Amino acid sequence: MPRTAHDEHHWQTIAQRYELEPGPINLENGYFGRMSREVCAHYLEHVAFINRSNSLHVRQQFEQGENVEIRRQLAGLIDAEPDSIAFTRNATEALQSLIRNYNRLQPGDQVLISDLEYDTVKGAMRWLAGYRGVEVIEVSHAHPASFDSLVQTYQQAFTQYPRLKLMALTHVTHRTGLVMPVQAIAMAAREQGIDVILDGAHALGQIEFNLAQLGIQFAGFNLHKWIGAPLTLGFLYIAPERLADIDPDMGEFHYPATDVRARTSYSTPNFPALMTLPLVLQEHRAAGGSAAKGARVNYLRNRWVSQVRPLPGIEVLTPDDPRLYCGITAFKFIGRDQQLMADRLLKDYGLFTTTRAGAAFGSCIRVTPGLATSAADIDVLVNAITELSVD
Ligand SMILES: Cc1ncc(COP(=O)(O)O)c(C=O)c1O
Repeated sequence: MPRTAHDEHHWQTIAQRYELEPGPINLENGYFGRMSREVCAHYLEHVAFINRSNSLHVRQQFEQGENVEIRRQLAGLIDAEPDSIAFTRNATEALQSLIRNYNRLQPGDQVLISDLEYDTVKGAMRWLAGYRGVEVIEVSHAHPASFDSLVQTYQQAFTQYPRLKLMALTHVTHRTGLVMPVQAIAMAAREQGIDVILDGAHALGQIEFNLAQLGIQFAGFNLHKWIGAPLTLGFLYIAPERLADIDPDMGEFHYPATDVRARTSYSTPNFPALMTLPLVLQEHRAAGGSAAKGARVNYLRNRWVSQVRPLPGIEVLTPDDPRLYCGITAFKFIGRDQQLMADRLLKDYGLFTTTRAGAAFGSCIRVTPGLATSAADIDVLVNAITELSVD
């Protein structure tokens, strides 16, 4: 763990870059992250500027080179070539474009999802049944999960369903923060000739990874969770040698079929948000990038999980294997109504969390610290869970 992860003074100076509304302690930073004050101010300036200059700047500057440079910088964030990425408005749009336009499926083929996928991804994969005539296989992961159990669930599915051609895989599930062993799963899939579409929404900016090393050729991301960009920015990634396996989106013609940008819908983007991105990426790097951000939120996660896991009446759902967790972790008050308990955390202790349902193990409370969260905030959570566990 980098030394700075538990250096409260260091992280206080970072926390001061963010403006916080007075109110409860926010432990639900998983929905989207804050922009720093500087990024927010820069964004607002761009909003005003684009509003003043209207299409003049967009047509004469943005579209004549500024956008090329922004795309180049974004590709650098994932060590990819600019011609492998296309901007979208969010991760859902990126992932749904990949799923909709993946053209290697024949009627009777099988596609795979697990209980831990994000709902918009599940929906799109299920939709393939009618659109492409495929059979949708749905598996549930063992609980509690281990590195081996996660890989085995897929290996068993690959054996049981020999017509599998495509699967969705979520790098970090939004339900519990479980980090999937992506490299091992992608390798097992490749051996069976199964393509993987990776949902990287919660991984980007929180986990260090390299798509080529992971063995991933198709992926979707957003930039508003852990990168610190304004809302409305995401992107899709297609390994250049696999571009032909994703069709242009719904007859898209603004770019040639050899251009990855034809793989998602063409529309007027949020220019001010895109123009803010270079500063966002600069700040991300200055804060130490995913390595430092990830280490900090992991430290905060371990601070509460280590004290709460042994409590009777509490089940922490996310494993402690360092390969399998990040800053997001979920727990349960055993045998209680989780929404009611989340409400009590808020009303009695001023702690804002969120409940998540939809996994095979049922409903849970998700805790997501952010870059403005202090160790003292986490201690309030530990005290609250300890008291409520015997209440
Ligand atoms: C795992 C995961 N995938 C996809 C998404 C969708 O992201 P977006 O809101 O950018 O479409 C989310 C959002 O919370 C997520 O947690």
